[in-house]
Amino acid sequence: MRIVVLVGLPGSGKSTYLERLGAPALSSDRIRGLLADDETDQTIHDRVFQTVRYLLRQRLELGRPVTYIDATNLTREDRRPYLEMGRAHGCEVEAVFFDVPLAVCRERNARRRRVVPEEALAKMAGKLTPPTVEEGFARVTLISD
Ligand SMILES: Nc1ncnc2c1ncn2[C@@H]1O[C@H](COP(=O)(O)OP(=O)(O)O)[C@@H](O)[C@H]1O
Ligand SMILES: [Mg+2]
Repeated sequence: MRIVVLVGLPGSGKSTYLERLGAPALSSDRIRGLLADDETDQTIHDRVFQTVRYLLRQRLELGRPVTYIDATNLTREDRRPYLEMGRAHGCEVEAVFFDVPLAVCRERNARRRRVVPEEALAKMAGKLTPPTVEEGFARVTLISD
């Protein structure tokens, strides 16, 4: 089994990449929608990620071969639970890093349906720590288009 943790700012192309792949994903935005009828609700962070982890655990117990985590996953702290769950279930955890400049994310963000506020995006860019093998990922794939 594999867990693939996507890492990237809003607008970096994570959900589009998964759509193209047709890959099975747990999306924090979709879960926001399921829980609060609003994919942009940023007030229920803990519940959203508890739900992501709950669903991931169910999938691992069912033996699903691969699960993508579609969330920004900007910091090591954000990503650590998936590395721990991978270890507990004996599966590989890899990262896909959307190394897209802030200016490009900003431009794509401005043009889409759900716009993340400009100052929130800048704050997130400041928190972004690229994923590494040293942190525990079996491999890190870079996407930079
Ligand atoms: N490789 C790409 N080149 C150009 N535009 C893209 C690319 N990937 C995504 N986009 C566009 O950028 C916007 C944000 O993409 P999205 O996949 O929703 O980002 P994320 O899920 O990381 O927030 C969408 O309008 C999408 O169509
Ligand atoms: Mg998305």
